[in-house]
Amino acid sequence: MTNIANFKYTLLFTWLTCSLLCVCVALDNGLARTPPMGYDTWNAYHCNYDAATLMGTAKAMKEAGMLELGYEYIYPDDCWLAPERTADGKLQPNPYKFPYGLKPVIDYIHSLGFKFGIYNCAGTRTCAGFPGCYGHYDECAQQFAEWGVDYIKFDWCNVPFADYPGLNHKEVAKILYSEFRDALNRTGRPIVFSMCNGWDPDVRPWEWASDVSNLWRTTMDIADNYDVMRDRYEQNILHGDKAGPGHWNNPDMLEVGNGGMTTTEYITHFSLWSIMAAPLVIGTNVINMSETTKYILTNKEVIDVNQDSLGIQGFRVKHDIAQDIITKPLSDGDVAVVLFSANGGGVINTTIDEVFMDPSYPAYVLRDLWSHNETTVLKKIAAYVDAHAVAMYRIRPGKPSDAPPHHVIYWDSNPALVSYAEKNFTGGLRIENLGASDMLDVQVDLEAPSDVEVTPLTKTKFPIIYMDSEEVVAWNFKLPNNTSPGSKSITAVVSFTYPYSSSRERISHSYGSSLTVPDLEALGKDGVCSCSSS
Ligand code: GLA
Repeated sequence: MTNIANFKYTLLFTWLTCSLLCVCVALDNGLARTPPMGYDTWNAYHCNYDAATLMGTAKAMKEAGMLELGYEYIYPDDCWLAPERTADGKLQPNPYKFPYGLKPVIDYIHSLGFKFGIYNCAGTRTCAGFPGCYGHYDECAQQFAEWGVDYIKFDWCNVPFADYPGLNHKEVAKILYSEFRDALNRTGRPIVFSMCNGWDPDVRPWEWASDVSNLWRTTMDIADNYDVMRDRYEQNILHGDKAGPGHWNNPDMLEVGNGGMTTTEYITHFSLWSIMAAPLVIGTNVINMSETTKYILTNKEVIDVNQDSLGIQGFRVKHDIAQDIITKPLSDGDVAVVLFSANGGGVINTTIDEVFMDPSYPAYVLRDLWSHNETTVLKKIAAYVDAHAVAMYRIRPGKPSDAPPHHVIYWDSNPALVSYAEKNFTGGLRIENLGASDMLDVQVDLEAPSDVEVTPLTKTKFPIIYMDSEEVVAWNFKLPNNTSPGSKSITAVVSFTYPYSSSRERISHSYGSSLTVPDLEALGKDGVCSCSSS
């Protein structure tokens, strides 16, 4: 093994040792050994929900098989309370939202097999202005335990800092959250303790909270758009050494399904949260969720990465303005990897060694956790990843015969990037074989609209593309003078077989690009192509 590999394994060992040590000093309630999963009303409904919403959510989640997948805790966020306490000082639910009280809701949720959570606040009032627990920590904890609460999200608004002269926010947070932890312990009921104070930049809970709570927010509130989601990821990924069984970093709840991101971006969101061992708390309307939303939230193989018992938060082995490579060692020796194109699309390259996989095996199987396809690799891993998208793999040691060879296909000179003024230009497709076997009988077909004249400039068939080698196929594209403006889609279809394929069945992979022919009348006669590739 090289010195670099040795160094990496030392790092990994240090990481694991630290995680184990952290477990020893962690909050001792035995809960949240894997990142908590569940449902919170805030992202979907803010204050506009009631008993029927919670019960309907539980029923829909049960029917969608989400409980079995691990989505265990269901809870109302802020606004479940009446504006004031009862005459004898107890918290009470809003009578319009919960006309029969909370008990039938809690009983129903428990009867389906879920656990019930609740929301309150370390301050005098919640963030939306309802009665908080400050000054009543024991009564609050006791009341929640009597109701059968299994999880509590404890926020950080309306804290009377004047009661703590000379102390900063972090010091006050340590005092108050430790007091509430002790109050929860005194109830004798196992209750997951989720601190929601990391949105205050002065609190920095990851620095001190592993013996106080089971999870803590690392960020401001999430919002349903790509830039905010990415920002929460960027902040949360920095604190990986603080996470582990019983104590997790929380970059806030999921926005998957809420409509402000594309399907690609939601898949990215879910993949990033999963590899970061972040709590997976759904925040969409699951009663009416689309098939796409359900498909994302119920991807068991991605959830398995999140819920891995080793509890390592995925960490970055490469980070630049356009590309991130995140890796997460798993308890069975496999490694999960996310290749993330944070800005524009492009080929992302890494190696078995770089992602902390033991490099001594002759071959590896790369399982794509979104397509569920498997391929083999020798040492290099690469994929073309679209803008804002991810490729997510689980890697295990294997044999060359286990699956077809992994390959990456991309436009070397992309026809979409050529000036339309040329009208006559070449495009080249590069095919790299990164697999643990040769690609055999490779054929490349090009599908283009009939008004685009396509002439091959190279061979388009190859009896063999050897392991660890590549070929380029080039075409000439000619657009007639009267080409109508609009988008022209060009698709290359690469098909091949490989030595271990028992059926000799051909594997085929399409790779598209779109060429936008501008409206020259509108642009003036020297219009330049405004193009995109996909
Ligand atoms: C804060 C929290 C949110 C939500 C709201 C409710 O902003 O960070 O997650 O709980 O309060 O008022």
